[in-house]
Amino acid sequence: MAAMWDKCLLLISCFAIHLRSGFVDGQEFHSSIDPDAYLSTPQIIRRHGYEAESHIIQTDDGYLLTLHRIPTNRLGIRGKQPIFIQHGLLSSSTDWVDSGNNSLAFILANDGYDVWLGNVRGNTYSKGHVTLSPKDAKFWNFSWHDMALHDLPAMINHISNITNRPGEILYIGHSMGTTMFYALASERPQIAQSIRAMVALAPVVYMTHIKSPIRYLAPWINDIQFLVKHLGMNQFLPSSKILKFLSYDCEKKLKKEICEDVFFILCGFDKQQFNDTLLPVILSHVPAGTSTKTVIHYLQEIANEGKFQKFDYGKNGNMKEYGQSYPPLYKLNNVDVPMFLMYAENDWLASPIDVKRLAENLTNTNYEMYKIPLDTFNHVDFLWGIDAPRLVYGPMMDYLRTYPLYYVAE
Ligand SMILES: *[C@@H]1O[C@H](CO)[C@@H](O)[C@H](O)[C@H]1NC(C)=O
Ligand SMILES: *[C@@H]1O[C@H](CO)[C@@H](O)[C@H](O)[C@H]1NC(C)=O
Ligand SMILES: *[C@@H]1O[C@H](CO)[C@@H](O)[C@H](O)[C@H]1NC(C)=O
Ligand SMILES: *[C@@H]1O[C@H](CO)[C@@H](O)[C@H](O)[C@H]1NC(C)=O
Ligand SMILES: *[C@@H]1O[C@H](CO)[C@@H](O)[C@H](O)[C@H]1NC(C)=O
Repeated sequence: MAAMWDKCLLLISCFAIHLRSGFVDGQEFHSSIDPDAYLSTPQIIRRHGYEAESHIIQTDDGYLLTLHRIPTNRLGIRGKQPIFIQHGLLSSSTDWVDSGNNSLAFILANDGYDVWLGNVRGNTYSKGHVTLSPKDAKFWNFSWHDMALHDLPAMINHISNITNRPGEILYIGHSMGTTMFYALASERPQIAQSIRAMVALAPVVYMTHIKSPIRYLAPWINDIQFLVKHLGMNQFLPSSKILKFLSYDCEKKLKKEICEDVFFILCGFDKQQFNDTLLPVILSHVPAGTSTKTVIHYLQEIANEGKFQKFDYGKNGNMKEYGQSYPPLYKLNNVDVPMFLMYAENDWLASPIDVKRLAENLTNTNYEMYKIPLDTFNHVDFLWGIDAPRLVYGPMMDYLRTYPLYYVAE
């Protein structure tokens, strides 16, 4: 059993990782590496010739989040239509600016959008709280449910306020950025009404058919006490030995292939779309931090045989938390926002079968499905794939153009 658990830990770390090489305990990359590896999101944005803003906002439960914004295109002309982009698990706003000119945020800014990049609680840019410190276990007592019900409303309200366009914001989410949206739209449909249309990149709601090896963890998930005992309810593996071991290897570049392979093992194999030069940049920003509870909530989704439901505290915990012995399901029939579901055949985390099931379970029929026309395309190619601009962002923007740009008199 102990040996089994070690294997599990390794797999969970891999999940965490998407693999980090760069800055562990102040170690740095060698020269000849893209300077973006050393920079924060706003610094990367400025280095590429755009204006960058950081907005610190407070959620109704006291977390301090940083929203990044690219208000202008490369020529300094202000974007008119607010668009909000939400990153996935263990990531940050950097996801949208770290592929040079291929980055989605830059492409949208150049197309006339006012681009806002979210950062959820617990990541690199959102580790503040009015009373708690990340050193407190209580700080980490959240899952994506809380990001959906507290972080998203705070970020969306702020954007509505600053741009004075409630009801006009476009939403793009990747992976957990879609899970959060569906949880919000199920639980607080009136807030979701601030969103005019939504693009789901690799939507993750049902997880019965994931191919990623993390599915082998499922049998352990139902024993919440066991998990809490071994993983804690704290920050998710911030400095485990395994992470350090792997990052050491990658940093020394002895085994770059191994780093890539970890991505591939978790997300689906796709060497063709993976740009080697981006690896150090990506790995210096990912993983950006989350809570163990967030990861466990996902593992529960895999284990619970196809239910999109709230965190499972075990029978007694559920009675206390929800007044019933099972966690309540999210009410997907409340989701009433037009949406574009983009998914890929070789995505080991958001399988086409699960995405289709999501679509079938939406009572809202105002959606379109789009399968990426490349069979090897994987979960992270939506962010970093060499052909993402052509295969993903082009069709996405065609869809968004059916929601005409809003022009403000200046
Ligand atoms: C890989 O990324 C680098 C850095 O952004 C870029 O200069 C290069 O053109 C990319 N390669 C391909 C094939 O897109
Ligand atoms: C990105 O595009 C701009 C404008 O077209 C160009 O000036 C710049 O050199 C490009 N940068 C890279 C890394 O390709
Ligand atoms: C964590 O949050 C849950 C749900 O809100 C609550 O029931 C529990 O008591 C909290 N635990 C701690 C340690 O704060
Ligand atoms: C938005 O503006 C309203 C009215 O000015 C204010 O009550 C509210 O607190 C603001 N919300 C945010 C998130 O700034
Ligand atoms: C969701 O869709 C599946 C079929 O894909 C169906 O069996 C199930 O009953 C649906 N659930 C809901 C809540 O509509």
